[in-house]
Amino acid sequence: MSPVLTQVSNSLRDLFEDARRVAVLTGAGISAESGVPTFRVGGGSEIWMWRGRPVTELSSRELLATDPKLVWEWFDHRRSMLAEIRPNSGHLMLAEWERRFEEFTLITQNIDDLHQAAGSLRVLELHGNIWRARCRRCGSTFEVRESPIQEVPQCLACGGPSRPDVVLFGELLPEGVFERAEKAVQNCDLFFVVGTSAVVYPAASLPIAAKQARARVIEVNPELTDISVFADFTLLGNAGQILPQFTQGRFEGNSCDSQRIN
Ligand code: OAD
Repeated sequence: MSPVLTQVSNSLRDLFEDARRVAVLTGAGISAESGVPTFRVGGGSEIWMWRGRPVTELSSRELLATDPKLVWEWFDHRRSMLAEIRPNSGHLMLAEWERRFEEFTLITQNIDDLHQAAGSLRVLELHGNIWRARCRRCGSTFEVRESPIQEVPQCLACGGPSRPDVVLFGELLPEGVFERAEKAVQNCDLFFVVGTSAVVYPAASLPIAAKQARARVIEVNPELTDISVFADFTLLGNAGQILPQFTQGRFEGNSCDSQRIN
């Protein structure tokens, strides 16, 4: 291993060993090795189309108002793609870290439930969860694990019509979730940003909040992103390969090609 990489490796190991309060923000990239497609490839924009419509329309507040059944069909299509998908070593490692640190906060933009499937018990879901429905009349939420669904699920409490309990384009995040995430980030000493292009706000503001709170920021992504300039380390590679190396305390050169040391 080159002297620079040895220095990086020792710094990373010390940061990880010394950390007491850790926060992690994940995006679609951490589920990529499980076979879940990401939203943006190579820094591009939303690339998904389904039944001739872009994801930005299918996952929109406007379409929920005019054609709630189509919105359910779109999310049920995504649920059917997830039904056989399992968490990968990146998810499993973060579930282990939850038990390792004095304080550990996992914040995800993902709605695929793979962190919970990997054993993470406390997950701040900024954008909701594809396996949960929310009543459009009384607001109560309930699990809907059946896929494909036969009809729009009715509320278990009041019988009203439901919608997927996810954040649609044009909607605000669930009450209080982002505030809890921001508080954890402002109080952590080590912040990991894993598998996100960091282009969707307010999630993308969290790495900056971490830096402002003087936390060390480690990014894990095969590509550089808009927040790489804020990161203390950007480890170019796959989360499933890089995250376990923190627990093992050794970093292989090929997957830990740090781009930046501030
Ligand atoms: P993106 O698709 O925008 O970004 C995924 C990131 O993961 C990219 O930077 C990839 O380089 C990286 N990546 C790919 N494979 C990886 C791997 N094996 N390990 C680590 N990183 C990898 O997805 P998000 O940033 O999550 O919003 O997108 C944010 C939000 O935009 C989503 O939550 C969704 C979307 O619109 C809503 O649904 C509200």
